[in-house]
Amino acid sequence: MAESGSAKLTLPVGGIEKTIELPIRVGTENEPAIDIASLRAKTGYVALDPAFVNTASTLSGITFLDGEKGILRYRGIPIEELGAKSTFVETAFLLIYGHLPNKAELDRFSLMLTRHSLIHEDMKKFFEGYPSTAHPMAILSSMVCSLSAYYPDPVDTNDAEQMEMAIGRLLSKVRTIAAFSYKKSIGQPFVYPKNNLSYCANFLNMMFAVPAEPYEIDPEIVSVLNLLLILHADHEQNCSTSTVRLVGSSKANLFASVAAGILALWGPLHGGANQEVIEMLEAIQRDGGDVQKFVNLAKDKESGFRLMGFGHRVYKNYDPRAKLIKTACDRVLAKLGISDPLLDTARRLEEAALKDPYFVDRKLYPNVDFYSGIIYRALGFPTNMFTVMFALGRLPGWIAQWKEMNEDRSTKIGRPRQIYTGNLVTPYVDIASR
Ligand code: SDX
Repeated sequence: MAESGSAKLTLPVGGIEKTIELPIRVGTENEPAIDIASLRAKTGYVALDPAFVNTASTLSGITFLDGEKGILRYRGIPIEELGAKSTFVETAFLLIYGHLPNKAELDRFSLMLTRHSLIHEDMKKFFEGYPSTAHPMAILSSMVCSLSAYYPDPVDTNDAEQMEMAIGRLLSKVRTIAAFSYKKSIGQPFVYPKNNLSYCANFLNMMFAVPAEPYEIDPEIVSVLNLLLILHADHEQNCSTSTVRLVGSSKANLFASVAAGILALWGPLHGGANQEVIEMLEAIQRDGGDVQKFVNLAKDKESGFRLMGFGHRVYKNYDPRAKLIKTACDRVLAKLGISDPLLDTARRLEEAALKDPYFVDRKLYPNVDFYSGIIYRALGFPTNMFTVMFALGRLPGWIAQWKEMNEDRSTKIGRPRQIYTGNLVTPYVDIASR
């Protein structure tokens, strides 16, 4: 990455004013950064930046987003084009291997995903241990971590074939685990994957088919599911991706690293927001539908209430994914002949918020989670599966970022510093004297 001059920093060191120079680095989209890797060695200082609001944790060539302009590109390709022309499997390949696959590559990758969709029969016993009320995200994470028990051999990240196998197994089996966790929650028999179905069609069949009657796979639903998974596929160094990288930086295996990412995604401030949005919209409806009342509540710091699906750490403009999902909402619900009153509530809530100075001043716009739940509902997914759908979509991004980190020879174990604010040295006091 190009160096572009340096930043001068003048600060007191041991009572003497010292000026040091820190390199300025600039990314391919002209994002500037001050490289502080030598700061502590040169000055004894560390930089303090809770929640990493101003801190880049890595260089990465996978995803570019511009929060001010509302731009999102995977390996340079705008998501608008991928959403309109690609499939989730093709986009997964693009993210993981860095280029759009040619036909032979795509066929090989698709065959890999078809061939590795079964989970070990012993893993089915795990589901028996869960209560039917278990949240599918709890099941998903532990089952993904358990894959490392069934594939214990360490994966040499420099061995393309070993990596291809681990990636294929993970991408394919998570779909099966997700569907089985849903079937478990409704007490229906597991439906096994079918090798003659595409990635998304196979998932829909495992989710919604029952042995008692044939299940008609609707191409429209397959198409919109591809779009939704593409739009969730990666998003640079968000909370769950940073978790995957941090866990992976200790050389933990891919399954364990992704299992940790799944748990980070589950949080209501992150991927769990798509479930919270629907629950919020339902609460607004139960309360009589007065959206302004909830906008006012969200502005009241004492209320502890936030408009879920609104706001973003990076986007200070409309989340480009939310735009595409909102458009797809209209198309899918019309095509399926569904009229969901929650969509009207969501629209009125968005309109009220985007007119309110509190939201305008803070540049709070709908994010990826605001409308996605409405489509998932229309497709027949229960609310507690929405974050699982987010995880299914984000999986190629996690894999790509983990792979990029492991291929980077300069990668070191992630270990942030801190500023200590606790007791000075204190003697131990025997219990008799306390
Ligand atoms: C995802 O990082 C990613 O890329 C994530 C993601 C991905 O693809 O991986 O895009 C997916 O996680 C999307 C976000 C889903 N979460 C939600 O929808 C939850 C609701 N949103 C917020 O809690 C919040 O906006 C965050 C968590 C998304 C971002 O929080 P920040 O960046 O830490 O911002 P903040 O909490 O400091 O808020 C800044 C101000 C505060 O007010 P002031 O102190 O300035 O007066 O904006 C206010 C906040 O109170 N604010 C909100 C709000 N979000 C921010 N007020 C009301 N409702 C909200 N939703």
